[in-house]
Amino acid sequence: MFDLIKKLTGAVGVSGNEEEIRELIIQEIKDYVDEIRVDALGNLIAVKKSKGKKIMVAAHMDEIGLMVTHIDEKGFLRFSTVGGISRFDSIGQRVRFKNGTVGAVYYEDKLEDMKDLRFSKMYIDIGASNREEAEKSVKIGDTACFAGEAVKQGDMVISKALDDRSGCAVVVKAIKDLPQTDNEIYFVFTVQEELGLRGAGTAAYSIKPDMAIAVDVTMTGDTPESHAMEVKCGRGPAIKIKDRSVICHPQVRKLLEEAAEKNGIPYQLEILEAGGSDPGSIHITAGGIPSGAISIPCRYVHSPVETASLKDIENAARLLIEAIKA
Ligand code: CO
Ligand code: ZN
Repeated sequence: MFDLIKKLTGAVGVSGNEEEIRELIIQEIKDYVDEIRVDALGNLIAVKKSKGKKIMVAAHMDEIGLMVTHIDEKGFLRFSTVGGISRFDSIGQRVRFKNGTVGAVYYEDKLEDMKDLRFSKMYIDIGASNREEAEKSVKIGDTACFAGEAVKQGDMVISKALDDRSGCAVVVKAIKDLPQTDNEIYFVFTVQEELGLRGAGTAAYSIKPDMAIAVDVTMTGDTPESHAMEVKCGRGPAIKIKDRSVICHPQVRKLLEEAAEKNGIPYQLEILEAGGSDPGSIHITAGGIPSGAISIPCRYVHSPVETASLKDIENAARLLIEAIKA
């Protein structure tokens, strides 16, 4: 599982620019599904055909990042954010563009108090000596993500973009390991989740499934002085009850809880007080779709050092398989 996560987190795929990660996933799954299509927004939809219930499984391919808004005479890039990024998490980081260009993110020397740090006082340095030279590598509107390889530390994986490439890895694993079933399953790798769950809604509308299950990360309450939250790393995947975008359907919740209990898979229950997820747009589409989610407990979400338990991720895949094969 770690190797797959390392591969998937390594791809650049800031919201709206999911080409590279989508291609990587297509290569992983193409021999295991009956049909693959890419819809108008860029969602990747892979189908295992059958005549039974239509189930949609969703994980978002996109990640947070920075978008170039201005290039100054000296070749430094000013930027805007794509998705929820903390300015403090961004200082001193490397970022990588689709074409391989790497830059250092830093802030203006004049800044005296870190409290006053704003993205408008920060820039990306790609080592260019003037605007003209910078424009050879980077254009206005180009996006970059945090750079750096996933590492394994004990049972934990530390990486950028575990949100939601760890979820993509779970779905890829489920595609490969799923036994024959009567259900018709639509595995959807969605786009633009970080901008407001945009891709998942349109994909669900075109599929009109009987039920949907998303796989994404959730926050935890297990770090020093953390916000009180029941979810902890290492205690199994979490079954979502609620976040800011959805109250999960009791039927889907029950299906997941029973699948975990019947198969001895550890699980916890999740109530996420900040943030939404793909079921938020899926469940209010096409007349209403019963939706739920399996969440991977993850520390430092939206930072370059997102941290999660490999055992939890593996158990998330087991849980997903048991739930959709029934
Ligand atoms: Co996110
Ligand atoms: Zn996510």
